[in-house]
Amino acid sequence: MTSMTASRAADLVAALLFVLSLAGLSRHRTSRAGVVYGIVGMALALAATVVASAQSVSAGPVALILLATVIGAAAGLWRARRVEMTQMPELIAVLHSFVGLAAVLVGWNSYLEVEAHGSRGRIAAELIRIHHAEVFIGVFIGAVTFTGSVVAYLKLSARIKSRPLMLPGKNALNLGALALFVVLTVWFTVSPGLPLMVAVTVLALALGWHLVASIGGGDMPVVVSMLNSYSGWAAAAAGFLLDNNLLIVTGALVGSSGAYLSYIMCQAMNRSFLSVIAGGFGIEAPPGGDDEQGEHREIRAHEAAELLARARSVVITPGYGMAVAQAQHPVAELTRRLRERGVEVRFGVHPVAGRLPGHMNVLLAEAKVPYDIVLEMDEINDDFADTSVVLVIGANDTVNPSATEDPASPIAGMPVLRVWEAEQVVVFKRSMASGYAGVQNPLFFRENSSMLFGDAKQSVEEILRALGPDTGREPAAPERGVTAAR
Ligand code: TAP
Repeated sequence: MTSMTASRAADLVAALLFVLSLAGLSRHRTSRAGVVYGIVGMALALAATVVASAQSVSAGPVALILLATVIGAAAGLWRARRVEMTQMPELIAVLHSFVGLAAVLVGWNSYLEVEAHGSRGRIAAELIRIHHAEVFIGVFIGAVTFTGSVVAYLKLSARIKSRPLMLPGKNALNLGALALFVVLTVWFTVSPGLPLMVAVTVLALALGWHLVASIGGGDMPVVVSMLNSYSGWAAAAAGFLLDNNLLIVTGALVGSSGAYLSYIMCQAMNRSFLSVIAGGFGIEAPPGGDDEQGEHREIRAHEAAELLARARSVVITPGYGMAVAQAQHPVAELTRRLRERGVEVRFGVHPVAGRLPGHMNVLLAEAKVPYDIVLEMDEINDDFADTSVVLVIGANDTVNPSATEDPASPIAGMPVLRVWEAEQVVVFKRSMASGYAGVQNPLFFRENSSMLFGDAKQSVEEILRALGPDTGREPAAPERGVTAAR
């Protein structure tokens, strides 16, 4: 077997491993195996690429590829080890921007190479126009992905405001940019030239920026997975230009799975898929944002402890603030202590609580909260009306009643945890500031709500102290209605 055939075979095996990886990542139990398949597939793909390059180029460029691989791998390892869970979406956005930038560079390189040396027989004369179209489309998708991901990174890391940018005629701008791209593509395939390459690059960079800047904070989860999809198509486009089948297959896998994930998330958040990918089409800017809507009541940790000690059933709805405070361990301890006392404790997890899909589930699993008491939004929503106390720990948008009650709200229609239906709600946060979507939350001003101000970890620890010494007993099986003493 020649080394070229071996590297083709390795490509095929790597592609299969990527498919297995995606399948494994879709379930808790198999997710570790999924990660391992992905790592082995990527190692194989890199090795195959180096071997294939060694056939066609001299030792110098191969050494450069190896050097770039080592530097990239070291930087990746360093970042991945240091990144906090709360910063993961930002990291993903940055990585997507690299894929976009790579696609732009590959496209430009391919254009300049053909301009300088002709296609050197690599591309049949009758296919040269298709090559031009590939270059143009690859640069366009790559540049949109690049600036879109940069804006997503800036928004997610709170370096710029998460509110949607509302330029006048923004929908017309987006549609106009797409129409211009189609015209330029046809022009370029007929008569390619440097000014057209520059034009499409600038157009796509501006469009990527505008598309994501126009999307409000509440829709950012969809944007992250949508950019994931774009980065996949950008990689596939680069694969066509480099004549690399593995890149085409991998790009298509990422592109289609990212698009499907965006679609599922849109359904979960009751958002129109098309309106989100079209840059917040029809979404209005949030009015007022931080304006307060009445009087709120405060509660101290020892009072919350008394409330909990008397409760029959408690539901904890965690959010981004629990991750920031790293409060999952004391929260798990509080759960254990309350269950020891016979209180029924369950968790209600919103699909977009935190900053990435599954964020809360990972934190709760890390703190060893039993899986069977962690319920999804749809599983718990009907039970709030029959709940004594809800502890909202660092959550805000995901428990905002205006999503269901105020059609003018920027998050109108987004399914939320109906915590306000419980007898008492205690909200753990540090201030009256709004959540990620920048919308004020009427829950804080309801009759049955109290605010427990301070860092969530410290507040839960204070409650634990106020509850008294740990008996160390195993949690009793929850019994509905037995310990209610109010
Ligand atoms: P948010 O609406 O972001 O609210 C988090 C709350 O935590 C804030 O109100 C903040 O209030 C509080 N907080 C922050 N640090 C705290 C600390 N140390 N101690 C106590 N409280 C603290 O969170 P959520 O309810 O989880 O909603 C998630 C939001 O993020 C949604 O809008 C969602 O669309 C968006 N998003 C989600 C994802 C995914 S995929 N999950 C990705 C990107 C964006 P204070 O500052 O007053 O403390």
